[in-house]
Amino acid sequence: MFTTIHGLKTFYEERGSGPAVLLLHGFPLDHRMWQEQISALESNYRVIAPDLRGFGQSEPHKDLITLEHMADELLLLLDQLQVEKAVLAGFSMGGYAAFSLLRKAPNRFNGLILANTRPDADPLEGQINRMKMAASLLEQGPQAASKAMIPKLLSEGEGSGLASEIQDQINGMSPLGLVHASLAMAFRKDSTELLSTIQAPTLVIGGEKDSITPPSIMKKMADSIPNATYSEIKDSAHLTVREHPDQVNKAITDFLNHLHS
Ligand code: MLT
Repeated sequence: MFTTIHGLKTFYEERGSGPAVLLLHGFPLDHRMWQEQISALESNYRVIAPDLRGFGQSEPHKDLITLEHMADELLLLLDQLQVEKAVLAGFSMGGYAAFSLLRKAPNRFNGLILANTRPDADPLEGQINRMKMAASLLEQGPQAASKAMIPKLLSEGEGSGLASEIQDQINGMSPLGLVHASLAMAFRKDSTELLSTIQAPTLVIGGEKDSITPPSIMKKMADSIPNATYSEIKDSAHLTVREHPDQVNKAITDFLNHLHS
């Protein structure tokens, strides 16, 4: 489905009915990374999975954006769809956007799922790497992101069917959208202090072999949130939701069923 937000074409997938669940994708992906979760949840929930600004079928902004800007747009989308409250699920960069949403509108979210994400801001070295990535994206296009990210997203690395599917998706992204998101992540706020203020019941999902957001960081994050449980996905690198969808779907459906029982 398409809508217009801040004058820009914006895509979101919407399926099913029931309590709302908002799924926020990671970098350099789009709503399709959640396809296995959308299928598993749509019989009991109203699942909303947007393409964040500049990703997938949502056209990029002309100017630089921030994670706060993405959060403002998501609140406008929820208003347009007349969703008063939702469970908020953020994967990696989507988790950074989720933290911004929780700063702006904590009462709008009655449950939280944080998958393969982290609360801290980038150190200087990380910021420099993101600026190098932004330069490579401008010079080489989205292939720069697929080359750098696929070995970290997937434990089996390049060459598998899943890897070529993800590679095709990344290579279809707007380079400008990926540049803007890289810079937005480089200068995102630190959300460590936010964790102890989170009121919503929370599920934290980590991947046993995730090198971007390793289990130690995920467990520490879960321990810092008042009402959180931690679920570790065995044999998975960063992209848990695609590598082991059955394990992830069980963790999410158990959490949602308990929340709405
Ligand atoms: C993601 O999966 O969204 C990215 O790995 C996040 C990041 O680079 O910090």
